[in-house]
Amino acid sequence: MELQALTSTNFYFKNQTAFYRGKVRDVYTINQDVLVIVACDRISAFDHVLPRSIPFKGQVLNAVASLFLDQTQNIMPNWKVSTPDAHVTIGKRCDAIPIEFVIRNYLTGHAWRVYKEGGRLLCGNKLPEGLKENDKLPTPIITPATKAVSGHDEDISYSEIISQNILSKSRLDELCDNALALFELGTKYAASKNLILVDTKYEFGLFNNQATLIDEIHTPDSSRFFYGDTYEKLQNEGKQQRQLSKEFVREWLMENGFQGLDGQLVPDMPDEFVMSISDRYQELFNAMTGNSLVKRDYDNILDTIENNVNNALNII
Ligand SMILES: Nc1ncnc2c1ncn2[C@@H]1O[C@H](COP(=O)(O)OP(=O)(O)OP(=O)(O)O)[C@@H](O)[C@H]1O
Ligand SMILES: [Mg+2]
Repeated sequence: MELQALTSTNFYFKNQTAFYRGKVRDVYTINQDVLVIVACDRISAFDHVLPRSIPFKGQVLNAVASLFLDQTQNIMPNWKVSTPDAHVTIGKRCDAIPIEFVIRNYLTGHAWRVYKEGGRLLCGNKLPEGLKENDKLPTPIITPATKAVSGHDEDISYSEIISQNILSKSRLDELCDNALALFELGTKYAASKNLILVDTKYEFGLFNNQATLIDEIHTPDSSRFFYGDTYEKLQNEGKQQRQLSKEFVREWLMENGFQGLDGQLVPDMPDEFVMSISDRYQELFNAMTGNSLVKRDYDNILDTIENNVNNALNII
């Protein structure tokens, strides 16, 4: 049987004024101020959308983001208004700030690659000597990246964000404080579930000139998680961490000759591999919430989503 997944949508809602397809999500603008974001089951790696979609991935992203948007309302306002369907969030359209606020508490991924090559300064943050991959940093650091319209995002420092007039100092300070507070809450929540929030990325926008949290938060696409109970032991033994993230997808692609470089072809992804990715996303959901995912029904999914969104739009 062919695996069922939601690869893309192509709705036309009442008062729709724009449509944008991101790598993972389909973004519909209603009038000027409402967004309908469908978290599809597409998966991206190395900034490429992969040819196979992952069953239940969009549902996991939508549920995890929604959980944390609800939990962080005391820290700052966010864009979410409702989640009328397992794959959909509806909320306020904001003027997106073109900076990704990446926060890292461990030397992992891009930060580790810079460090390994001898770099000791990351987006203006000094890194101490003597660290190895996945070691904890003295304090969480903010390593912002520009949100490029096309191509790869690039590191940018606190002072460059101000000198390039992307944000005023006071707005940037406000957002950095918010990002750290969000990260602290995510870290504590994860710890209560025996998980380590390794690093994550936040996006902010302005709504009536008020700083507002947008996009997804603390999802396996925007964050890395390690298992807490095995962290110390694996680190002391110099072994790889047990990760709950897309890292193993990247590793599989690299083993199969793909790192997202020009001219490289994405290898065929067999069903078993697609299912194993789906299982990982569900495992993350289970670990994060303590509940097992109630899998949505994929029969007539497009009609169901359209109806659910229309009903929700009718009452706002
Ligand atoms: N409330 C909001 N207001 C405005 N834009 C938003 C809001 N929430 C999310 N977005 C934007 O919607 C898009 C979500 O799509 P997705 O994450 O799939 O795209 P992406 O591939 O990460 O982004 P892009 O293609 O823009 O680099 C992102 O560009 C994100 O910045
Ligand atoms: Mg995104």
